[in-house]
This record gives sequence, structure tokens and C-alpha cells, in this order.
Amino acid sequence: MHEVKVGVIGFGTVGAGVVRLLLQNRAVIEKRLGFPLTLAKVADLDVTTDRGIQVPASLLTTDAGEVIEDPDIPLVVELIGGLEPARTFTLQALGKGKGVVTANKALLAHHWQELCGASQEGGGRLGFEASVGGGIPVIRALREGLVANRIESIHGIINGTSNYILTRMSEEGLDFETALRRAQEMGYAEADPGLDIDGGDAAHKLAILASLAFDTCVPLEKIYTEGISGISLIDLEIARELGYVVKLLAVAKAGGERVEARVHPTMIPKGHLLATVGDVFNAIYIRGDAVGPTLLYGLGAGSLPTASAVVADLVEMARSIRTGGGPSPFRITLEEERPIVPMEEVRCPCYIRFMSPDRPGILAAISGVLARHEISIASVIQRGREAGSAVPIVMMTHSAREASVRAALDEIAGRQVVTAPPVCIRVEESGEESSE
Ligand code: HSE
Repeated sequence: MHEVKVGVIGFGTVGAGVVRLLLQNRAVIEKRLGFPLTLAKVADLDVTTDRGIQVPASLLTTDAGEVIEDPDIPLVVELIGGLEPARTFTLQALGKGKGVVTANKALLAHHWQELCGASQEGGGRLGFEASVGGGIPVIRALREGLVANRIESIHGIINGTSNYILTRMSEEGLDFETALRRAQEMGYAEADPGLDIDGGDAAHKLAILASLAFDTCVPLEKIYTEGISGISLIDLEIARELGYVVKLLAVAKAGGERVEARVHPTMIPKGHLLATVGDVFNAIYIRGDAVGPTLLYGLGAGSLPTASAVVADLVEMARSIRTGGGPSPFRITLEEERPIVPMEEVRCPCYIRFMSPDRPGILAAISGVLARHEISIASVIQRGREAGSAVPIVMMTHSAREASVRAALDEIAGRQVVTAPPVCIRVEESGEESSE
């Protein structure tokens, strides 16, 4: 049978992985497909840097138009990252009826309706398995394996860099900067590592997951996003003593018509299935009304794991081209139909650490403010005592409304009872613990 040709735009870390897979695993892919999936063009502004893989010079070009305009190339891989010109290239290729495969979560999160709309209305189709969870087939799980379910909740560790940093801080006592530098050296971090650390990358991915899972469009700007830069070694240590670990969690829940979507550092019990997901690994815990709990785990970043997901989309599209299937029959709901719960209304138990002078009346003053804001304290610990210096006072609260916690902490921060702004980490118990 005739080959199906692929053009790759963007020859960076993931682009090089895709090229490597298409060349080195060509025989196994052909065996499974029944026809060859052929790398026909690789476009990048820089085609001279050594990417550690031999590509025939005739395939290399600095002009993305040579991929998009070529009628013999029905499948285009967009791996240049960023919003523009990635958006324009993607729309142009979809408009020509081509299949476009992208790993670009920022592009999808910002232009979800436009891109999915173009894919559904035009002759082309869009594949984005690689945009969330690297090599983990979570998009396929939501679109196909779990299609019969109403999805109830998603709890995800979906940023490898921040997971790596928190794991190394917690296990080796590394400081934040050293752990980040290591993640960058290993090629996990975004070009702008701010996106990893401030939760932006996880929010992009959660926008995609929640939009698919809840059949709505969850706008990026409605996802509450808080990163890990406020987490100190002392909080990780105390969390461990209390039987918890701290993870940057992406949480999405459907309650009635409304949808909750948020990204923030979260304390989870050490028996929780997500608690042992360390280093750069990602995991997505999805609960469906029919299937119950499911867990997907794997490498969420890196050249070959991400390339694995890109090539999976290419193979699916190539098959569909050969069988005359045309665009994906899967319908993505593009309307913003379901209201998003404002963060102020979300309720969580909290870990709150105050740094306070060690003198009579401090605890009473703090707990008085919390009580006035209807925040109920579940336990209190005070650590250490050194003459003249502030001591950490940690309170675990029962489930409390976000707006009340913020108001109480603002009030406490403005008083003489603390020497630094209080640190608050939300807790997810949610009955999702493993049975151990
Ligand atoms: N910077 C991302 C991460 C890479 O650390 O997970 C994959 O999206």
C-alpha cells in the first residue's frame, strides 16, 4: 500500500524525538500500519545544529511553507511551541484539509475554540495527545476508553519540572534553585521555566483535560493558578511529619452543572495513590461514574516520551486517511456551557503555618481570628523554641471556604502576632487514598 507522508515543523527537543522515532522505528510502525509512514520534510529556522540524529539534507528546510503547501504531505507536526506563528501554521494546514499533530498546550489552552472549531469544520483534524502528560495516553483515554462515563473528577500531577523540584527538595533537602537547575539540565523545563514553577504549564494542560472531560470549554483565565515558589523546606518537613506529601496538583471536579478547575500546591496523604509519583513522572487520577477510579502514570516530559504520543496521533490519522475516514468523528464541545466555580467558593481543609513570637496570647489571638471567620481548627503544633526568635505554629483546619481563609490570613498578617506572611497549603483528602 502507498506510504503516507509526514512533515515536521520544529526540530527542537521533541521534534528531534519524532524524527528519531519515525526513522528508527519505521519498520515496526509500518508492520502495525500495513503501509509506511514516511518522514518527508523537517522545517526549522535552524537546520545546522547537531540534534544527534542523521537526517538526509534533502529533507531539511528553513521554510515551514514547504510542509504546509506540499499537497503530497497530508500530515503536519507542529512543534515550534509558543502562540505565533504556531497558531497560523496550524490553521493554514487544517484549512488545507491536513491532519495536524501538536504538543503545544499553550496554543490549545489559549485558542481551544478556534483550533478545535477549525478542525471540526474544515477537512483537517487536530491531534494533541502529546500536549498533556507527555507519553501518557490520557487524551485517548478521555476521548475513547472512558467515553461512556460522566467524568466526576481529575487529580493530576501534570508538570514534571515542578514535581521533580518538590521531590528533590523533599527527599534530598535540595534548595529550590539547585533542584530547578537540575531539571533544566535534564531538558524537562519549558523554555520559560516560569511556566513550570508558577503553575501556568499545568493550567494549560488542565484546561485541555477539563474541557474534554466535562464537555465544555474551560477558559484558561478561569483556572485558579498558584505555583510552587512559596513552598519552603520547612513545610515539606512538617508535611512529612504529619503524614502528607506536597504536590503541585491540577484538580478538576464536576459538581452538578458547575465545574471546579484549579492548580496549586496541595498536601495529600502519603497513602494517596498520587503521593508516590516522584521526580519528573506525571500521573492523572480520573474518576468516572461507571468505571470508578483509574490511574494513568508515566513520563510527562522529555524528547522520546513526548514523541511517542505525537507518533501515536500520526499513526491514527494515517490509518484514517487510508480507510477514507476523513476527520475525527469525535465531537468536541466548543461552547462555554458550564459555569466555573469561583475560587473564593471552593472549600478545602488547609495547612497554615504562622511564624510568630513565642509569648502568651499569640495562639489565642490567631485562633480567635480564625474562629470569627468560621474556620475550625483540627490540630495545632508548635515547633522548637529559641529565645527571641519566631517559631513556626502550624494549624490544620477542617474544610474551610477559600474566601474565609484569605480574609482571616489577611487580618492575621496585619497584626503583631506574626513576623512573616502566613503560608497556606490546601489539603485534598477526598477519599482517594490507596487501601494500604
Ligand atoms: N515543562 C513540562 C513539564 C514539559 O515539566 O512537565 C512537558 O509539558
